[in-house]
Amino acid sequence: MRTIRIFDTTLRDGEQSPGASMNLSEKLQVAHALADLGVDIIEAGFAVASPGDFESVREVAKSVKGSGVCSLARCVTKDIDAAAEAVKEAEQPTIHVFLATSPIHREYKLRMNMDQNVETAIEAVKYARRFCPDIEFSAEDATRTEIDHLCRVVEAVINAGAATVNIPDTVGYAAPHEMYERIRNLFERVPNIDRAVISVHNHNDLGMAAATSLAAVQAGAGQVECTINGLGERAGNCALEEIVMALKTRCDVYQAGTRIITQKLVPVSRLVASVTGLKVPRNKAVVGQNAFAHESGIHQDGMLKNPTTYEIMSPADVGFQKTDLVLGKHSGRAALADRTKMLGYDLDAETLTNLFGEFKKLADRKKNIYDEDISALIEQQMHENKGLNVPVSSGDWTFVSYDLHCCTGSEPVLTLKLRRGTQEYTKEIAGGDGPIDAVFLAVQDLTGLDISIKEYSVQSVSVGEDAQGESTVLLNKGSEIFRGHGVSTDTIEAGTLAILNAVNRMVR
Ligand code: KIV
Ligand code: ZN
Repeated sequence: MRTIRIFDTTLRDGEQSPGASMNLSEKLQVAHALADLGVDIIEAGFAVASPGDFESVREVAKSVKGSGVCSLARCVTKDIDAAAEAVKEAEQPTIHVFLATSPIHREYKLRMNMDQNVETAIEAVKYARRFCPDIEFSAEDATRTEIDHLCRVVEAVINAGAATVNIPDTVGYAAPHEMYERIRNLFERVPNIDRAVISVHNHNDLGMAAATSLAAVQAGAGQVECTINGLGERAGNCALEEIVMALKTRCDVYQAGTRIITQKLVPVSRLVASVTGLKVPRNKAVVGQNAFAHESGIHQDGMLKNPTTYEIMSPADVGFQKTDLVLGKHSGRAALADRTKMLGYDLDAETLTNLFGEFKKLADRKKNIYDEDISALIEQQMHENKGLNVPVSSGDWTFVSYDLHCCTGSEPVLTLKLRRGTQEYTKEIAGGDGPIDAVFLAVQDLTGLDISIKEYSVQSVSVGEDAQGESTVLLNKGSEIFRGHGVSTDTIEAGTLAILNAVNRMVR
């Protein structure tokens, strides 16, 4: 059995998903969860991209233990300098330099011939080696690169000192058997290939990222780059949970495993969905809510007789916990603490106290409190940065109350009360094409911000007529996008909380 290295790029390629940007405290939470999950290397960002990116790579590097930390860099000295500086305090620092090698990219993007392409890669790897022994080189668009040129680049960067060479399917174009052949070809033709780990980084444009990654593993790749929930540019990257569970479930085929603690996959998936606002589709492989749901009578009958009739993995193995015990208003702090642990959250005493207060308020409005409600309350705490030693800023807008009159055929009439610091503000408004639009217009007026709504959605957190509504909004301010999130049994209140959450991120 080989152990395949898992390189997670949720904080870099994943964050490149539109609307998925995370703030520093969110990136730190995700980085620590990835380290607890057993990820080998965390790509924490692209240090040169902005001062904020630099800061988050540096903070992740300083605080994460047990996983390597890496920053991306183009093959230019200022990028490599920034990456080296940002990762230098990591337990195991890596600098990840990349250069496109395909004819399309060489001709149109880089305007380089083949010799210049090879020289640039060699120089960058040598330069990066001055700072750090662990250098990864990525041949961007490798799957559309002439195989002879790719072999030449791979041999050259290994000689220059790259410890890992990544063969990305940047545009998600390769068929699985082509990926297999390409990696085999490299193993057969590159004389010094045994001096480096061969990695793959496959995008999901044709829905084949996990399949091409598995094909590469079969051909000898020793590292897979992936993201939680398959986040990433366009259709995303290979999903970490898919590659890990495919290797585990079919180790008879792949003869390989990973260091990932699979029981933590669902909690980490929920955390990433919560901080990015990008919900996991219900039918998503491994971590979707329906991944282990059985609807048809024939399937349910089979499951009762023997779960292996319709389940190839056990839900508990990926971190789904089933319980028939529903919490309610008579449940105490100990029962809540116990349930949060079972759901995979590790809360400090202060966060648990805040959560218990919110739980009691919810229990007054809702008879049965399900696991999904508890997860939603915890995520709400995270969004407000409560319990994360980040004080709610005095400039934050908070919700006080609303009074709304709506009927078919006429504009909503709304009175919205907000608080900022010790001051209360009220806006009465008759307008908008629906209640949320009216709330938005009132918030716009009270805050004086020039904003617009790009996206608004609400979905039920659990089941029943008293279920909580979970609202997500994306607000635009110029070209910047800010995400907000709110949960309440009252969907107008959930929408208002989501708008205010986005406004507060903007103001901060
Ligand atoms: O998709 C890609 O090629 C990348 C590289 C920077 C590794 O993200
Ligand atoms: Zn990528």
